[in-house]
Amino acid sequence: MALESAYQPLATSPSNESNLDEQKGRHRRSRIDIPFTSFILSRRKLVLAILLSLSLISAALFSLPALKTLYGSPIELVPAENPYFQTGGIWDHNDAIAAKLYRCEALGLLRNTSLPLESNLRPSAEEEAALTAEGCGTNETTIIILASLWFAEAYSGTSNTGESIYAQSVISALNANNYSYVFTSLGWYNPDMKKTVELWNQHRWNVRMILADPDQVNVCWNPEHNCTKSEANPEGIEAWRLMSFWYWDTIGNPLGPTFTLSPFAKTPNTLMSLSIEPTCKRLPYLPSAYRPHPPQAWLLAKQVHYLDNTTAFSWTLEALTGLQKEFGIHVKGGMVDDDAETLKRVKAANIENVGRLGKIEFYEELAKSSVLIGVGRPRISPSPWDALCVGVPFINPILEWDEEDPKDRSKWHAQQWHMTDLDPPYVYNVHAHDIVGLRRAVHAAIHHPIESFIPEVMTFKWVRNRMGEIVESDWRTKAKGILEERLRVGEGALFVM
Ligand SMILES: *[C@@H]1O[C@H](CO)[C@@H](O)[C@H](O)[C@H]1NC(C)=O
Ligand SMILES: *[C@@H]1O[C@H](CO)[C@@H](O)[C@H](O)[C@H]1NC(C)=O
Ligand SMILES: *[C@@H]1O[C@H](CO)[C@@H](O)[C@H](O)[C@H]1NC(C)=O
Ligand SMILES: *[C@@H]1O[C@H](CO)[C@@H](O)[C@H](O)[C@H]1NC(C)=O
Ligand SMILES: *[C@@H]1O[C@H](CO)[C@@H](O)[C@H](O)[C@H]1NC(C)=O
Repeated sequence: MALESAYQPLATSPSNESNLDEQKGRHRRSRIDIPFTSFILSRRKLVLAILLSLSLISAALFSLPALKTLYGSPIELVPAENPYFQTGGIWDHNDAIAAKLYRCEALGLLRNTSLPLESNLRPSAEEEAALTAEGCGTNETTIIILASLWFAEAYSGTSNTGESIYAQSVISALNANNYSYVFTSLGWYNPDMKKTVELWNQHRWNVRMILADPDQVNVCWNPEHNCTKSEANPEGIEAWRLMSFWYWDTIGNPLGPTFTLSPFAKTPNTLMSLSIEPTCKRLPYLPSAYRPHPPQAWLLAKQVHYLDNTTAFSWTLEALTGLQKEFGIHVKGGMVDDDAETLKRVKAANIENVGRLGKIEFYEELAKSSVLIGVGRPRISPSPWDALCVGVPFINPILEWDEEDPKDRSKWHAQQWHMTDLDPPYVYNVHAHDIVGLRRAVHAAIHHPIESFIPEVMTFKWVRNRMGEIVESDWRTKAKGILEERLRVGEGALFVM
């Protein structure tokens, strides 16, 4: 089976890789400057904001401090934090989990949680309450080993890639279900599983499953590493506990798609979807009536060369200039200057580039926009989901299609190919280089503003339930079926149950 041996290109949100500022930014108050007001609307405070809006004009005649004291208490319109996620030190976290288990064991309250408990063995509600009171509840003594690099990156708060956004969603869902987890990544480009094997041995009877990068899974399957269970290594990790954590659509586990967990529907893999909801709730949100005039169209491009004169750019600079003239909009982007020639042409086309943006700044710009325009690259970025969530429609270039039947969605390959099922007013799928289609879509998007939109499988409620189903699934029996089938047909990697 061909597994991806190296990391794939990162599905990065347009954002800054050096994150120290962003980490601070996360805790500082975001601010959007729009005429007469200088505050940001958190969704929860929206009703308050609408009430206040009537007095805004008059308040604006005075200074901002006057607005702050208008109702006696300071008006703090701050994005809500994700209540299920905190950053921290991964090794400190592991130590705290080990201490917790040790304490439960010393109290005689530590049970074997290595497999889902049969319903007749589950503690009664009173027993569970008594265990929970001591910090030894069933879920909290069930451990998921988070071996993938992306979990460590997400927990340390050091990366904004699509993969770490996915990892953050998984950690949030584990937290919401009160499961415990430990980190075992040894860093970038290091698929070594020593730490995983070490913590597996340490917490053996409480480890339910391991979520690892496909190349870590490969290393573990290699008998030389004494990682998976085999006749020679009977104390090793059972192959069926070793799940691949895989942002992409390909199969990432020697046991096949069932043991590959991926964030988006329509792949052969097991769906462990990504919820952008807790993060999105922290984002600045502006009802469309508050967005700037002329309307802002944001370009989904983090590098200037995405707008070069090759066919990889789905539109042309002239077409973007035409949009500004025709619809009186302002086309803007936050792109790294990596191509002097194209930058010159971007300037000549009157397209504003504010340069590389931090995460919070990017979201502030997004929230002020009336439409997000894909330009062909980067593919599968999570930013269009964030756009829908902050109420900004997305123009999704279709990059490949069936010439005989351009409307056949099953043949489309789009910049965000997980969005080809969505329709206006949320997503406008437009064939690349169809400038008339682009003009129509932009016109429709600015005239049909949307509310915040999250597809059901990306809501936190759904993802949290799904996480419970995954952790409590009988993976052993599923693997047994796969093994029997492989023995029957005499094909595929074999393993010890
Ligand atoms: C824990 O449970 C598993 C599955 O029921 C069992 O095979 C194993 O022997 C148990 N471990 C201990 C230490 O009792
Ligand atoms: C479960 O987790 C939630 C949120 O993280 C927390 O508020 C709650 O106290 C936890 N409940 C138990 C039983 O540990
Ligand atoms: C694997 O285990 C075997 C038997 O215990 C041992 O001889 C060998 O050195 C181990 N290999 C590694 C890489 O640890
Ligand atoms: C594209 O731009 C490059 C300079 O960046 C120029 O040399 C080339 O001729 C241009 N090609 C087209 C098709 O305009
Ligand atoms: C334990 O996890 C299950 C999902 O598998 C969830 O339904 C339940 O609420 C969780 N218990 C606690 C205390 O969080």
